[in-house]
Amino acid sequence: MLKDHVVLVTGGGSGLGLGVARYCQAAGAEIAIMEVSADKAARLREEFGPGVLVVQGDVTRLADLQACHDAVLARHGRLDALIGTQGIFDGNVPLMDTAPERIDALFDEIMHVNVKGYVLSARVFHDLLRASEGAMVFTTSTAAYAADGGGVAYTASKGAIRSLVGQLAFEFAPHVRVNGVAPAGIANSQLRGPRALGLEAQRQSDIPKDAFLAMFQSLSLMQDLPTAEDHGPLYAFLASRHNKIMTGQTVVADQGLLNRPVLTRKA
Ligand SMILES: NC(=O)c1ccc[n+]([C@@H]2O[C@H](COP(=O)([O-])OP(=O)(O)OC[C@H]3O[C@@H](n4cnc5c(N)ncnc54)[C@H](O)[C@@H]3O)[C@@H](O)[C@H]2O)c1
Repeated sequence: MLKDHVVLVTGGGSGLGLGVARYCQAAGAEIAIMEVSADKAARLREEFGPGVLVVQGDVTRLADLQACHDAVLARHGRLDALIGTQGIFDGNVPLMDTAPERIDALFDEIMHVNVKGYVLSARVFHDLLRASEGAMVFTTSTAAYAADGGGVAYTASKGAIRSLVGQLAFEFAPHVRVNGVAPAGIANSQLRGPRALGLEAQRQSDIPKDAFLAMFQSLSLMQDLPTAEDHGPLYAFLASRHNKIMTGQTVVADQGLLNRPVLTRKA
């Protein structure tokens, strides 16, 4: 699927982005990964070796993105796909349990990573993708479609990505295709909570595996909690030149979670 493609994954240090990066490499791509955490960047260098460009950087910082752009260009001379997977969670704290004076910092923190990071990276990497007639694939969530997938800040940020995909597909057509993926649950995610609420040490992976699986199975039609790698084929297709049929769309990859029964509760 990705032979002769150069693919950059932002936020690829763990969870979804790491699984998608592994899948893309196995599907034939030359991959590059940008990740904010120094520890995760070091682990990526160990896992992938010197053949894979790992850039430690923050997608909310223009200078970091420009450095990543220049490093990709120097190493590969081109870029065929930008896959954005970075994100942070808001702890699913209800609005009325949030101190009013924390809302400003909470929104800045979540929106900067979950929305501004995607806007800035789209702006910075557009020239390379325009040259290759390439693709952008951005990550939203079922939280953009239904209540209780997060609190107000996370949900608003994921709704913003769903809209951003449409706007960028319009602005960048016909040269760059822009699509989104909205996952539901992901095994082995390290999605963290917000500093603004003192929840930065909270990780999705802290939830006991059995409890998370039971909750997922009670809501979902498909019963296997997908891994990050399971999302790989969908991202790879949307990132590839084989996608001649879609732009401006978000694929809801939710294991049937949003297809709620009207009358019958499944056992
Ligand atoms: N975990 C889930 O169940 C789930 C469900 C739906 C959607 N998502 C979305 O999937 C995406 C990946 O999340 P995950 O669950 O794999 O979590 P994760 O924390 O394992 O992966 C996200 C990665 O992004 C990195 N990152 C965070 N801020 C960054 C920044 N400013 N610059 C560069 N990198 C940064 C993190 O360090 C981390 O390595 C997120 O956008 C998340 O909202 C997750």
